[in-house]
Amino acid sequence: MAFPTQVRLFEMSPRDGLQNEAGPVIATDIKVELINRLSACGLTHIEAASFVSPKWVPQMGDAAEVMAGIERKSGVVYSALTPNLKGVEGAIAAQADEVAVFSAASEAFTQKNINCSIAESLERFVPVIEAAKAQGIRVRGYVSTVLGCPYQGEIAPAQVASVARELLDMGCYEISLGDTIGVGTPLKAKRMLEAVTREIPVEKLAAHFHDTYGQALSNLYAVLEEGISVVDASVAGLGGCPYAKGASGNVASEDVIYLLQGLGIQTGVDLQQLVNTGYWITRQLGRHNGSKVAQALGEKI
Ligand code: HMG
Ligand code: MG
Repeated sequence: MAFPTQVRLFEMSPRDGLQNEAGPVIATDIKVELINRLSACGLTHIEAASFVSPKWVPQMGDAAEVMAGIERKSGVVYSALTPNLKGVEGAIAAQADEVAVFSAASEAFTQKNINCSIAESLERFVPVIEAAKAQGIRVRGYVSTVLGCPYQGEIAPAQVASVARELLDMGCYEISLGDTIGVGTPLKAKRMLEAVTREIPVEKLAAHFHDTYGQALSNLYAVLEEGISVVDASVAGLGGCPYAKGASGNVASEDVIYLLQGLGIQTGVDLQQLVNTGYWITRQLGRHNGSKVAQALGEKI
């Protein structure tokens, strides 16, 4: 039990943060500016877009335009979500640095989210991973509903471990474990991780916690203690999944950075600049800023 000395933050707001926004589709130039502001804060991994069906997720319908509009900062990885071959072809054409496939530990959620079974989703990812690798593009894998499902309820940790293992064996370089609806608590998170690390080394795992019940930071602390060193987060706590009703945003990036600083773990991110970015995007969206740290520090330009 030792905290990692370094943590890699994977910024989710342009994708997980914006995909669930109700109302009119957010202008492409706002998405582009958000990504540029995030890279200026020192974030090195940004999930910039999602090449999914625009009928399913209208907010992500301009993925290609977003990718074309951003200023590529050297050293920054701009990634995209790709559910199938059409998605990965779009992401490759848009010069995504990295792509991500996504399945879940719950059959019911997988069906609602990507309209197929877990086994079918994994089959579908074979050509996706092949196409990405042929271009030298790394593939990340997500397992959703690792601490509970909106349709099925409890999820067995062994089921999470099994899907995570399959994604890794198929060629994903890292598996992000998603508490999609933010229902987990620290002990549950530790038990789930214990089951997964029996199959996969902890260095290959990331924590992707949503904050619906206000437990995300506590859950994160619990898994950091177990050696997790990659954390997905979203500025201002934006986000949610359109196919997980009631799910709120990811843990706020500002809050994660403050926690990590307190643990003596450096991230290379300028916290105040990130706080300012959170205020900027919430103003564009007409939304409340979900980061407690942002509320405490305030905007300072
Ligand atoms: P389907 O309807 O079964 O697919 O959807 P299909 O192959 O029958 O295609 C239907 C239509 O979509 C066709 O168009 C296709 O061309 C088009 P039509 O002929 O009707 O005009 N289509 C596409 N268009 C653009 N890009 C594509 C694409 N694929 C098909 N890639 C599908 C299956 C997977 C496409 C659909 O279910 C889908 O897009 N689902 C995405 C759902 C989603 O994005 N959910 C949120 C992200 S996951 C998440 O948030 C969780 C995560 O954060 C981790 C966590 O928190 O747990 C990652
Ligand atoms: Mg998510």
